[in-house]
Amino acid sequence: MSSLLIKHGTIVTASDSFQGDVYIEGEKVVQLGASLDNSADQTIDAHGCYLFPGGIDAHTHMELPFMGTFSSDSFESGTLAGLHGGTTSIVDFAIQTQGDSLEAAIQEWHRKADGHAVGDYAFHCAVTDFNDETRKEIPRIIDHHGINSFKTFMAYKGALMVDDRQMFELMKELVKHGGIITSHCENGDMVDHLVQKHLEEGKTEPRYHVLSRPAICEAEASGRVIDLAWQAGCPNYIVHMTCEEALERVRTATLRNQRVLVETCVQYLLLDESMYFQDGFEGAKVVMSPPLRKPKDQEALWAAINQNLVHHVATDHCPFCMDQKEMGIDNFSRIPNGAPGIEHRVELMYSEGVHKGRISLNKFVEVTSTLAAKIFGLFPRKGTIAVGADADIIIFDPDVQHTISAKTHHMNCDYSAYEGWQVQGKTRSTVLRGMVAVDDGQALVGAGYGQYLPRGKFNPLY
Ligand code: URP
Ligand code: ZN
Ligand code: ZN
Repeated sequence: MSSLLIKHGTIVTASDSFQGDVYIEGEKVVQLGASLDNSADQTIDAHGCYLFPGGIDAHTHMELPFMGTFSSDSFESGTLAGLHGGTTSIVDFAIQTQGDSLEAAIQEWHRKADGHAVGDYAFHCAVTDFNDETRKEIPRIIDHHGINSFKTFMAYKGALMVDDRQMFELMKELVKHGGIITSHCENGDMVDHLVQKHLEEGKTEPRYHVLSRPAICEAEASGRVIDLAWQAGCPNYIVHMTCEEALERVRTATLRNQRVLVETCVQYLLLDESMYFQDGFEGAKVVMSPPLRKPKDQEALWAAINQNLVHHVATDHCPFCMDQKEMGIDNFSRIPNGAPGIEHRVELMYSEGVHKGRISLNKFVEVTSTLAAKIFGLFPRKGTIAVGADADIIIFDPDVQHTISAKTHHMNCDYSAYEGWQVQGKTRSTVLRGMVAVDDGQALVGAGYGQYLPRGKFNPLY
């Protein structure tokens, strides 16, 4: 069994920060201490660096068939890009095709990922057609496939959207078997109406994407799913929350002691809707749903992280190259929705969050790794640096500055929404299950190194 000793770093978890060494045997952390002198096959001097738990991105879409094309990162290219930035595990969405089974979706996602992913991966199951047959599949998906989280889309009418009855009945089933509902919250009918109206008025540019998806659409759907979950008694996680109005619905739910788990994404903290109003077709780069919001929403989201109302910062990594985005050059509603992000989430959250004084180091670890592991049943294997945990560690140099560019990133996408951004702090090396997976920009592991992560039932007491 190979061994690795990482010396002289500052170990940071969601609760502690201390100077120390980490000794790893095989895939696991075996010892933490102030001054370890174990002999090891490899020793890394991490002087001046932080040691963070490997990042977990609980919202990605690799090779997603969507809006007439496929998202442009495979499990191989996408997870490797994640490792470059410090993300060691992802949770991707196995999305049911309407009319097909959930089992078929999961098999299809295993076909895409198994033997290809470089980083570790788990799946959520997205239910787009809940009926008597799919109802019967739920216990097996949880117990056999190790998938406890089930996503419903309240938007994308005519494609992925489910109605409230399906969603409520799914919740009742999840309560019985130990699952959690996760929801894309936008009022699909309202969006559909506004899209049609704009197109009928000849308004076809990317800016009409955001004008067709106002914040109230998201707030209404968030409030609705919170109420349905309350009535069903079902644990509830809202994906990619963007705005103050939706956060208000969460805040209100806490008054009746309802626990609503909330994810936002790094782009909603850092980018705003003015990007849709740039010249030409530039706005297409950030066509995603829900759309980017106003600066006041960014402030509300940062505050909500510190108020423990937002639990995870993911990416919703769903890249499309510009020739794919151009499918919507004459009609904003045909621009494939999504953007790249997995590679820079950890570094951006450090630079814009910790370095700029918006969040503490421990909060940074909590929202980029620990709470996702706890919510989705990966803790304590993932999400922390502790004896017995997987040795997933970011060696992070806070003093290195770098500039984001599509010319140098590893995601399979020909643009970056953060082109030219100066970032303070850089992932120097990423260790995944005891192996140095990326070191100083060099990948040292390849396709198939990533492992599937089956998960336990939802633990309401995590
Ligand atoms: O625009 C987005 N978010 N694309 C990916 C699919 C989804 O809604 O999560
Ligand atoms: Zn979504
Ligand atoms: Zn998504």
